Amino acid sequence: MNSNIVCIGAGYIGGPTMAVIAKMNPDRKVIVVDINAERIAAWNSEDYSLPIYEPGLVDVVKEVRGKNLFFSTDIKGAVQECDIVFVGVNTPTKMFGRGSGRASDLQYWEATARSVKEYATSDKIIVEKSTLPVRTAAAMDAILNDHAKYSFTVLSNPEFLAEGTAIKDLLEPDRVLIGGPQTEVGLAAIQEVVDIYATWVPKEKILTTNVWSAELTKLAANAFLAQRVSSINAIAGLCEATGADVDEVARVVGADKRIGAKFLKAGPGFGGSCFKKDVLNLVYLCESFGLHTAAEYWSGVIRMNDHQQERIVSRLFGAMFNTLANKKIALFGFAFKADTGDTRETPAGTVARLLAAEHVKITITDPKALDNAKKDLADLTGIVYEGDEYKAAEGADAVVLMTDWRHYPSLDWRKIYDSMRKPALVFDTRNCLDAEGLRKIGFKVLNVGK
Ligand code: NAD
Ligand code: UGA
Repeated sequence: MNSNIVCIGAGYIGGPTMAVIAKMNPDRKVIVVDINAERIAAWNSEDYSLPIYEPGLVDVVKEVRGKNLFFSTDIKGAVQECDIVFVGVNTPTKMFGRGSGRASDLQYWEATARSVKEYATSDKIIVEKSTLPVRTAAAMDAILNDHAKYSFTVLSNPEFLAEGTAIKDLLEPDRVLIGGPQTEVGLAAIQEVVDIYATWVPKEKILTTNVWSAELTKLAANAFLAQRVSSINAIAGLCEATGADVDEVARVVGADKRIGAKFLKAGPGFGGSCFKKDVLNLVYLCESFGLHTAAEYWSGVIRMNDHQQERIVSRLFGAMFNTLANKKIALFGFAFKADTGDTRETPAGTVARLLAAEHVKITITDPKALDNAKKDLADLTGIVYEGDEYKAAEGADAVVLMTDWRHYPSLDWRKIYDSMRKPALVFDTRNCLDAEGLRKIGFKVLNVGK
């Protein structure tokens, strides 16, 4: 009989991942649990107003919820009912004490491990789904198996999905990674988790490694992606200074198969819950092992990213007669990327704060992220949140496009121009609008890397 699965943590990772696992494993019961009752209620809501927005997610949840996928706050009951425990709780950057600002805060993870140990009434396979520092599995093993009644085998199965394409990434992953102890028990546990994925992922895409390699691979993969974004953004500054066009440079650089075309889009810098956190975690790990030059190298990726948002504001200054006070600027898009309502570490948040410090009258519009924007900027007074882009732009001196929402290029930019104060500026930080068309309308246009 196939083992039942519990996932602790019903967030961006736990919810979509388990929904797809349940869909592809109809003979297994999958229970997703969380301490956040409001979140669980949203996952269970009759009208499917799920706690996160992700294209295609509602359809998968509709297909399996109540059949073999369940959302619950009963962590104890779920742990007792299941032999495989995925843990997808948050692992944010620690903001206190040792390693503050760099290390991962592992308190949620440890609390989870301790509750699994307390509630277990049989042996369990524990699967790290959260992104964790290398050797966390050793700490977990020590906590779980010390004076334990039952035996716990800790595996690492990091998740590579990106927000906005989570369901597609889960259904058609480039690879699935499962790391575990290279012992008889460890290899058997790895096989159990391989079996879950093998119901839909081709065997050659399911890669198995030792547990440390799996933990480190996740950090390395995110660091490499973040580094590409910082690399192209570093080139973007040089393009602006020299008359080169960063999109042209990226197209030709990326045409080299050894380099590849993806993750070479210059913009406002990377956001999202993971790139910064994971690169900082890598920096901390390098420092902890005395690898100071490597730590410096990865720190540069973050420094370049922060600089990109400062540059956006500097360029606004330059284009708006060196004073921004009391001017109205409309930020188009607040989510850290299109197709998500997630605003964690969004470049738009940093830009909003830099503009607020200059006493700018800020209006923010976004099709999915306004609620999160309000929460993120709750300490700033005077910001207007507006769902309608045309109203957001009314009377503005500048529109700063921060998120590449698909419908922005097809807005009626003539109508927007007519309602703005002149001279009217558009700063397209995603290079997704028709700059020439905008100039013909009368806008002054700024781009990144052009
Ligand atoms: P999230 O904050 O959306 O969800 C985490 C959930 O865990 C929350 O709902 C929280 O209430 C719950 N939780 C915390 N402590 C708990 C406990 N003791 N018991 C039960 N529930 C508890 O976070 P997320 O974005 O889903 O990320 C989770 C992990 O997955 C992180 O380590 C992250 O780095 C990793 N990850 C995230 C993504 C992504 O796209 N968001 C992608 C890959 C990996
Ligand atoms: C990223 C990784 O792509 C996933 O593989 C990983 O699982 C995930 O982090 C994680 O660990 O959380 P995500 O942050 O959801 O996924 O989104 P990405 O598509 O990677 O975009 C990250 C940021 O980089 C966004 O702000 C995006 O706008 C920016 N970006 C991306 C660019 O500025 N240019 C690019 O060419 C690509």
